[in-house]
Order: sequence, then structure tokens, then C-alpha cells
Amino acid sequence: MVDHITVKLGERSYPLHFGHDLRTHVRAQVEQATAAGRKLVVVTDRNLVETQGDALAAMVGATPRIVLEPGEKTKSLTDLGRVLDFMAEQRLDRTSLLVVAGGGVIGDLGGFAAASYLRGIGFWQIPTTLLAMVDSSVGGKTGINLKAGKNLVGAFHQPTAVFIATELLSTLPAREFAAGMAEVVKYGLLGDPGLFGELEQGRLSVSSPRLAAVIRRCCEAKARVVEADEFERAKVGGRALLNLGHTFGHAIEQVTGYGTYLHGEAVAIGLVAAARLSQRLGMITATEVDRVVRVVGAHDLPVALRSPLAWPELLAAMSRDKKVRAGRLRFVVLKSLGEAITLDEVDLAPVEAAFRSVGAV
Ligand SMILES: NC(=O)c1ccc[n+]([C@@H]2O[C@H](COP(=O)([O-])OP(=O)(O)OC[C@H]3O[C@@H](n4cnc5c(N)ncnc54)[C@H](O)[C@@H]3O)[C@@H](O)[C@H]2O)c1
Repeated sequence: MVDHITVKLGERSYPLHFGHDLRTHVRAQVEQATAAGRKLVVVTDRNLVETQGDALAAMVGATPRIVLEPGEKTKSLTDLGRVLDFMAEQRLDRTSLLVVAGGGVIGDLGGFAAASYLRGIGFWQIPTTLLAMVDSSVGGKTGINLKAGKNLVGAFHQPTAVFIATELLSTLPAREFAAGMAEVVKYGLLGDPGLFGELEQGRLSVSSPRLAAVIRRCCEAKARVVEADEFERAKVGGRALLNLGHTFGHAIEQVTGYGTYLHGEAVAIGLVAAARLSQRLGMITATEVDRVVRVVGAHDLPVALRSPLAWPELLAAMSRDKKVRAGRLRFVVLKSLGEAITLDEVDLAPVEAAFRSVGAV
């Protein structure tokens, strides 16, 4: 069964299609686009070709494709150049479509290639990781990394359609699945107490019958947030709420050099730190913090740093974060388990205490 919701952004609106198996559904759309004279090319990574080659072939047939190396290093200027050159070699024009099949790395890179080729062509997202299904494939943030830092170059460019086929998760490594769960826990904490309660009932796994409904629920939440604040300009709340746990998480990733922790693992520790910060600010209780720690831990995610990191380095990393506004530290904190708010000009002392509580020294 294929079901869909719409991300409502006026002329940039687009559908998110949901199903276990979307092979014939995507194939029909490919054929329709081709019949209408549109050219398509696919960008994906080697792991996907090796593990999901049949599903991909069923979806896109013999559509020309470029296969990149898996991993964060691929979100680079070099690989962006490769994709753009490939698009030009295939003579894509303004009516053409880039089909981006992969996790957040391929999604961000492919989306940015679509945003920049001929000043912007359409693209489809076929997310293949849990993180990409619940987060990165929806909302139009695209980009690449520079040597100086992550996601420093990019564009807002909404996809023209997103196809979320949960069967693709069957080959996702367990550690990657857990990392995606950090974003699911985040949605519960920031705005959906019912979802958080559901996660407290028991661990969600790739074979859980509830998984598809949970993914859809996260996408609905993301769609509503993006509709209200597409370009993250809201002075309070808005899209910035999606950064719950991320200011801490990005600092951990930066200081450890993007290899020790997966993004979701750093976010998981960041969620615990954000809960402790909220407690220090008198917003939630120690019992509520314990509930956050339990849910994060139950989903095979770290609740503290595996080895200590120096607070001054973490602080320096947080101060470089592009989400820092006018030199002031801005945090997303919890008013309750299920309601987040943004706070500007947070004092350093409780931030430091929160970071030390998850293992900073
Ligand atoms: N644009 C956004 O809004 C947004 C939001 C969050 C994260 N991100 C970005 O997303 C990236 C992380 O994405 P990710 O966690 O999906 O990582 P990823 O794209 O690196 O994928 C993780 C690993 O799983 C493999 N893989 C993917 N799908 C698979 C499948 N179905 N079966 C087997 N292997 C599979 C990949 O080859 C890779 O090795 C980061 O660069 C982050 O900055 C973007």
C-alpha cells in the first residue's frame, strides 16, 4: 500500500510517499517522467549498489547512474564536481531529474548538485537510512563539507518528491539504525509526548511492525516545522527546534574529527546533555532526565562520551557552530518531555555542567 502526505510550501510543495515496497510505484513515476521527455540520472553509493541493487534496479531500471564511495568524506567539493560533470555528460537540461538514492550523505550531496546544476533542477529523494527517512530527505537542506567544517556550503532546495520504502532498511547496519533512532527520540522529545511514551514502552527495531508508522509520524512533524519556517528564520522556535541535542552533538563530532561517533550517536549524547541543561535551568526534573537517559540507552545509543573530551575544546567548537547567533550560545531546551523551546544567551555555567555530566573534563 502506498500512502502519502504533502509538504505544503506553495509552488515548492511535494509529496512524501510511504510504503514497505515502492518498487513498482517509483518505476511508474520514472516511466511517466521519461515518457514526458524528461531525462533522469541516479546518484547513489557503492554500499547501496551492493546491498540493495535489486530494489534500485526495480525502481529505476537502466537509468544512467553515478556510484560514489560511501561515507562522510564523499560530501566534498571533489565528489560534487564528479556528480555535476556526470550530469553535464548526460546532457541533463532544466526539465531533467536527479534521483538521489542513499543516506544523508548522498542526499545532501545529490540535493546540492541538483540545486546548483543549471541553477537548480528537480530531484527525488529515495532515502535508505533511518536518519535520511525521518530527517535529512525532508526539508530541502542540501550541502557539502569543507576542510574548515561540516555543511559549510549548501542551499535550500526542496526535492520534488520523496519515496520512503521501509524495506530498504533491512540491510542497514545495526549501528546506523540506532543512529537514526536518535533523531526519532528527538522528535518525541521536542514535540510529541505520545511518541516519546511509545518509545518508553519498548525498543523500536528494524523488524518492529510499528516502525513504518513511527517514521511517518516523524516525517509529519518535520513537514509541519519546515512549512512554518522553511528557511530557519524564526526568531523563536521554528526550524531551530530540530536542533535539539545538536549543538552539543556537533561539538562532539567536531572535536573527535567525525569518525569516532556517528552523527546520531553524537546527537544521542547531545539529547542527554540537553535534558541535563534543561534540568539545571529548572525546566524539567531529575526523574524526567532519567527517562530520557533510559530511552536513549534502550535504543543502543551512548548516553555519555566513550572517552573524555576537554571542555575548552568543546566550547570552542560550539562557538564556531554556524547556529551560534552573533556570538551568543543558543540552545534548544526542554520545557517538558514533549515540548522544546529555543533559548538565546544561555549562561556558560549550566552548559559546562551539562557537558561535564556526559563525560567532558
Ligand atoms: N539535510 C538535512 O536536513 C540533514 C539532517 C540530518 C543529517 N544530515 C546529514 O546526513 C549525513 C548522515 O546521513 P546518514 O546517517 O544517513 O549516513 P550515510 O549516508 O553515510 O549512510 C550511512 C552508511 O549506511 C550505508 N547505507 C545506507 N543505506 C543503506 C542500506 N539501506 N543498506 C545498507 N547500507 C546502507 C551507507 O553506504 C553508509 O555507509 C550527515 O552528513 C549529516 O550532515 C542532513
